[in-house]
Amino acid sequence: DGVENGNSEWSAPSNIALVKYWGKKEHQIPANPSVSFTLNNCKTITKVSFSKKESITGFSFDLLFEGKEKESFRPKIQKFFERIETYCPYLKNFHFVIDTLNTFPHSSGIASSASGMAALAMNIMDLEKALNPQMNEAYFYSKASFLARLGSGSACRSIKGNVVVWGTHKEIEGSSDLFGVEFPGQIHENFKNYQDTILLVDKGEKQVSSTVGHDLMHNHPYAEKRFEQAHVNLSQIKNILETGDVENFIKIVESEALTLHAMMLTSMPYYILMKPNTLEIINRIWKYRSETGTPVCFTLDAGANVHVLYPESVKEKVVAFIQQELVGYCQNSQYICDEIGKGSEKI
Ligand code: PMV
Repeated sequence: DGVENGNSEWSAPSNIALVKYWGKKEHQIPANPSVSFTLNNCKTITKVSFSKKESITGFSFDLLFEGKEKESFRPKIQKFFERIETYCPYLKNFHFVIDTLNTFPHSSGIASSASGMAALAMNIMDLEKALNPQMNEAYFYSKASFLARLGSGSACRSIKGNVVVWGTHKEIEGSSDLFGVEFPGQIHENFKNYQDTILLVDKGEKQVSSTVGHDLMHNHPYAEKRFEQAHVNLSQIKNILETGDVENFIKIVESEALTLHAMMLTSMPYYILMKPNTLEIINRIWKYRSETGTPVCFTLDAGANVHVLYPESVKEKVVAFIQQELVGYCQNSQYICDEIGKGSEKI
């Protein structure tokens, strides 16, 4: 083809799962379907320049983080390129310079794998589009999500849409194990601009990685029940999102967070990622909710940090509550205000 060199730049956000993905089969196929809110402020911005090579050798790329060389990312990217090569046979024809940065503080305990892999996948699809200009938009975004999935499972939910479903589910039209799809229904007003304040409880490296955690779902005594439950919870949350039922939203979302951690508590070997302050925060949220009737709830990722979710209409009082009662449980009083966003963007 005539494409010799060029460059592109994309941002992609993080996402927070409402119904969690935990457990996978080979080739990054999820054991159960999941759904997430796309975030807006926590994102990765990645610039890629590419130039045609003289001879086709292995993969060839330079890696920069915030403009400086970052060798420690190399194995991850190498592995990602190997996984996607069959779907992107043009990769070895080019040398890439990949320059990436995150909008959230470095080593804040917020995983950058979802936003990072999504941003890289968008840039690769930009190159593919240059090679194949007739490509339609639907293909562009689904393949970007497909590639992102091969980088990090949950990354496939960071491509496009406010609410994204990944994994085949009988009530979600077009859903697939291979890529994320925008929630097909109409989201109720109550969930528009939903807020997510991320409380940074522990910024240290996790003791057990998500990769190991997913693996421990093989031969897990409660795995089959858990996978069934995720299907049921996804059916319910579909209705909840369409009808604006915040009360039942809270029940499912909190139960999903605790179930995720219950899977860790009951695997062999067992482990705990929550910290004492995680539990303090959860109890404070429950107390505040029962005393004031404010529809605020929490969710957790595979870590100690707490995501506080609430409608935009109660933002002022919830932020005041967080500042007065929860910030003391955060490491260095750190928290990040985020809200629902719409996915990756070309810069
Ligand atoms: O995408 P991974 O392999 O890092 O797994 C992430 C899993 C959870 O964040 C715990 C849940 C989810 O659905 O995002």
